[in-house]
Amino acid sequence: MTDLLSKFDPIIAQRESLLQTGLTDPFNLVMERVESPTVAICNGKRTILLGTYNYMGMTFDPDVVAAGKQALEEFGSGTTGSRVLNGTYSGHRAVEQALKDFYAMDHAMVFSTGYQANLGVISTIAGKEDYIVLDIDSHASIYDGCALGNAQIVPFRHNDIEALEKRLKRIPEGAGKLVVLEGVYSMLGDVAPLKEMVRISKENGAMVLVDEAHSMGFIGEHGRGVAEAQGIIDDVDFIIGTFSKSVGTVGGFCVSNHPKFEILRLVCRPYVFTASLPPSVVATAATSIRKLMDSADKRAHLWENSKRLHAGLRQLGFTLGTDEPQSAIIAVIMPDLEKGAAMWEALLNEGLYVNLARPPATPAGMTLLRCSLCALHTEDQVGEILGMFTAAGRATGCIN
Ligand SMILES: Cc1ncc(COP(=O)(O)O)c(C=O)c1O
Repeated sequence: MTDLLSKFDPIIAQRESLLQTGLTDPFNLVMERVESPTVAICNGKRTILLGTYNYMGMTFDPDVVAAGKQALEEFGSGTTGSRVLNGTYSGHRAVEQALKDFYAMDHAMVFSTGYQANLGVISTIAGKEDYIVLDIDSHASIYDGCALGNAQIVPFRHNDIEALEKRLKRIPEGAGKLVVLEGVYSMLGDVAPLKEMVRISKENGAMVLVDEAHSMGFIGEHGRGVAEAQGIIDDVDFIIGTFSKSVGTVGGFCVSNHPKFEILRLVCRPYVFTASLPPSVVATAATSIRKLMDSADKRAHLWENSKRLHAGLRQLGFTLGTDEPQSAIIAVIMPDLEKGAAMWEALLNEGLYVNLARPPATPAGMTLLRCSLCALHTEDQVGEILGMFTAAGRATGCIN
C-alpha cells in the first residue's frame, strides 16, 4: 500500500523540527475566553487581539448579539437544507436585502462562506471556452474557484497594470474573459490599483470580479470597499465579500447589477449543494451590515489606529509590507520562519496575539507577522502593542 499521506513528510519534518526547539505551536492556539473584539484569555493570560479580521469590532455589538439570540429562539439552530429547497428563511432574504442596500446594487446572493462564494461564482461564470485573468497573489478561494471550473487560467504579476494589459491582449478575440482582482491583498495589506485595472479590463472586453473581503465596512465613504474609494464601483460586474471579517460572523456573498444574475441561484453548485446559513447567523449579519452603513466615526478611528501602528513599528526598525498604511492590515516582514515563530511566541508571552503567516499563503516565500487592527482598539491599546513589539523585538534580536 502506498501511504497517500507520505507526500506531507517534508511539512511534517519542518513542523517537528520547529516544535523540538520548545516553541509554542503557532497554529494551535486556543482562545480560552473572548472578552471583547480586542481582548481574549489565551494560556490563562489577558491577550490583546491583533490578528483577527474583526476590523469593525461587530462581534459583541449588543444589537447584533440580540438579533442572533432572537432568531435562534424563533427559528431554531439551523435550516438543515439548501437555499433552493427548504433553506431559505425570511432572514436569508433580509440579509440579501441588507447587502443590496449597503452596496446600492440590484442583486445579492448569500453563500455559506466567502470561500464558497468565490468557488461558486468563479467556477460558474467562467466556463470551458473562457479565460480567467487573475493577480498571482490571489486568495486560495479564487484559485480553487478557477480549479473547480474549466476556464483557461492566466495569472499576471501582482498589482502590475501593464502585465494585466499584456495578458488580456494575448487572449483570442471574442473569447469570454473574466478579470479577478482583490481590493486589499490580505498578506501585505496592500491595495490594488483598481481604477486603472478595471478600465483596462473593460477596454479589452473583460468582465470584472473584485473580492472586497478585507475592505468591506472600512474602506470607501460608505465602507463599500476599494472599488468605491477609487470611484469605479459601477464598472465592477461582481463584488465578492464575506461576513467573517468586518461583519463579524460567518458567510459569504456576491452582489451585482447584472440583469441575469439571479440565474446563478440555480446553476451555481457551491450554492445549491450545501446547507444554508443558520437563522441566527443571517440575523446577526443583517443587523451588522445595516449598522456598518452608519459607521463613519469607526472608519475614521480605524484609519488612525492603522497610521499609528504603521508609524510606530517603522520607527522601531521593523520592515513592513507597505511604505504607507493602506488598509487595516500591517504586515511585519520576518527574516525566516524560525525568527518569525520566535517573535510570534515572544509577543504572545507579552500578551499580544498576531498572525504568523508563511508560504504558501504568503507571496515570495515570506514569513510575516500579520497585524490586523480593529476599530475598537483604543489609542492606549495601540501604545501597549508598540511596547510589546519593542520588548519582543529586542528579546529575539529582531530589532536593536
Ligand atoms: C480575499 C479573501 N477572499 C475570501 C476569503 C474567504 O472568506 P471566508 O472566511 O468567508 O470563507 C478570505 C478569507 O480569508 C479572503 O482573505
